[in-house]
Amino acid sequence: MIRAVYPGSFDPITNGHIYISERAAALFDELIVAVLVNPEKRSTFSEEERQIMAREALVHLPKVKYFNGLLVDFMRQQQSRIIIRGLRALSDFEYEFQLAQMNRQLAPEIETFFIVTDAKYSYLSSRAIKDAFQFGGAVRDMVPPGVYRRLRERIPPRNL
Ligand code: PNS
Repeated sequence: MIRAVYPGSFDPITNGHIYISERAAALFDELIVAVLVNPEKRSTFSEEERQIMAREALVHLPKVKYFNGLLVDFMRQQQSRIIIRGLRALSDFEYEFQLAQMNRQLAPEIETFFIVTDAKYSYLSSRAIKDAFQFGGAVRDMVPPGVYRRLRERIPPRNL
């Protein structure tokens, strides 16, 4: 039984994240999507909201859990040795490489697997969606319906 963990801040989950979750779920026996705290980012949505949005968007797929702490501690707690991360472009690589190397130093038994996104999601990020949305950009097709509804409730549109 191989259990993989797909961690991220998911602030909020996008169609690109869903794509990576689906690809990973098809490869491993069990997939846990882990909503984590990224200390480098101030989140727009609370941990609970991020978890609810991910769970709603992934009802057909894996488990969604929240963890506030070191990723490798969560991995050990869940008895998983596979971290899944999505890659969009070369620009992701440096950050992802550093993350993977750091996690390897902290827990050498854990492997990071990269899944390349579909070209149609290569420009998507939670940050870009929030930025575009607040200036009236049409992002409806980039996120699940529950996320779009919450974006409308949370982010006041400017310049509309
Ligand atoms: O979606 P993100 O923000 O790129 O995900 C980054 C995340 C949450 C996976 C990363 O910040 C993380 O693992 N945070 C938990 C704290 C941790 O383990 N840090 C050490 C690795 S550098």
